[in-house]
Amino acid sequence: EKESTVSITVVGASGDLAKKKIFPALFALYYEDCLPKHFTVFGYARSKMSDGELRNMVSKTLTCRIDKRENCSEKMEQFLKRCFFHSGQYDSLDNFAELDKKLKEHEGGRISNRLFYLSVPPNIFIDAVRCASSSASSANGWTRVIVEKPFGRDSESSTALTRGLKQYLVEDQIFRIDHYLGKELVENLSVLRFSNLIFEPLWSRQYIRNVQLIFSEDFGTEGRGGYFNNYGIIRDIMQNHLLQILALFAMETPVSLDAEDIRNEKVKVLRSMKPLQLGNVVIGQYKSHTKGEITYPAYTDDKTVPKDSLTPTFAAAALFIDNARWDGVPFLMKAGKALHNKRAEIRVQFRHVPGNLYKRNFGTDLDGATNELVIRVQPDEAIYLKINNKVPGLGMRLDRSNLNLHYAARYAKEIPDAYERLLLDAIEGERRLFIRSDELDAAWELFTPLLKELEEKKIIPEYYPYGSRGPVGAHYLAARYNVRWGDLGAEH
Ligand code: BG6
Repeated sequence: EKESTVSITVVGASGDLAKKKIFPALFALYYEDCLPKHFTVFGYARSKMSDGELRNMVSKTLTCRIDKRENCSEKMEQFLKRCFFHSGQYDSLDNFAELDKKLKEHEGGRISNRLFYLSVPPNIFIDAVRCASSSASSANGWTRVIVEKPFGRDSESSTALTRGLKQYLVEDQIFRIDHYLGKELVENLSVLRFSNLIFEPLWSRQYIRNVQLIFSEDFGTEGRGGYFNNYGIIRDIMQNHLLQILALFAMETPVSLDAEDIRNEKVKVLRSMKPLQLGNVVIGQYKSHTKGEITYPAYTDDKTVPKDSLTPTFAAAALFIDNARWDGVPFLMKAGKALHNKRAEIRVQFRHVPGNLYKRNFGTDLDGATNELVIRVQPDEAIYLKINNKVPGLGMRLDRSNLNLHYAARYAKEIPDAYERLLLDAIEGERRLFIRSDELDAAWELFTPLLKELEEKKIIPEYYPYGSRGPVGAHYLAARYNVRWGDLGAEH
């Protein structure tokens, strides 16, 4: 049997994503022996660079896992020898044909598999795909293309993008990344749910009072204002990262772990969502804040952002799934930049214990006595369950304690970056963690009317100070559904 080889071309090799995520992830895979025996990495960009210069640039981005420092620099040298550069325009068939020639030389007559990672702005996607597929497709193996958001900015532009891609590729060749799906604890969500008897039977409106999906960052859009202002936090985080987590969380049991079975269930949930009402959404934008000597900027202080921008840097929303399992259960989402901390988590608040024997011991705060399951996606990964417990001693005092699975304590192991898993899956043809076009359509269908309304009515965001807990409106929104945000309590 003929040997095969994989050529990975990073289109847009000198960009931020390539440097921060893609090259380091490829090296980590190499170090872990996860890449095929024969592989080549090509950087493709418009700038002129020699192979040596690319290697030099890439070498600055590579790191070793804390627990695997041995031979690291040797491995880096070996990896860099497999990296090459090709200079070309993104819309030039000829330039991609030259790349094809170089790839063939490296493939040396083996079965050629080719992965193109489009790490370029979205207005270049179609040109690059056209040229790559026409001039540099594999002749005897597979050709796959990884693309990453923004996938348009509403239903129409997203459909147009998909249509454009499908002029040159079939669905199976398109790997749409939502990097949150590559995060360890998001991947673990299904395991937690479907392989533990104590969770899945409780996973419904019968026992779950509300679900919270929370994303916060303690820095602003520094340097990314140009991109961000055209999208805003709802498109940047909610429509994709948080909604994907919601779909995984709420889907019915898939027939199997096959990509198509899982994605079928995710689409069903997305299509069962009730239309999002403007009244169920709060938006915010951060304003400048001075703390001691330091003045933190307002969103509109960014030179690339218009002074009168209404783009939300914060949003909270109450969503509902119109099916038998979740009827009436609020799914509360909250996402914001320039807040007081950096974190992503899923919080599941359970109902009251009916006829709780110990109600007296909780005083008036029965809400504070319900169980809560927290999946902390990042940082400091953990899964913990709040339970009521007797404080040891002669009296009968109860308090809430955590049954805590703290990853750092349990697993003395660095958790791979999301891009490592996703790149590996793309090379192996595992599509489970990539977004199918009907999923993408359903996600846009949910958010597009709301986004249009916000923009047409020029809804003014609630301003919140940089580094604060965000607009108080989020609190009122939750209160309307008798919910308290779990991340804002005295102890989380
Ligand atoms: C990206 C958003 O998709 O996710 C950024 O465009 C955001 O605005 C980033 O900062 C957060 O990802 P992570 O992995 O750092 O939580």
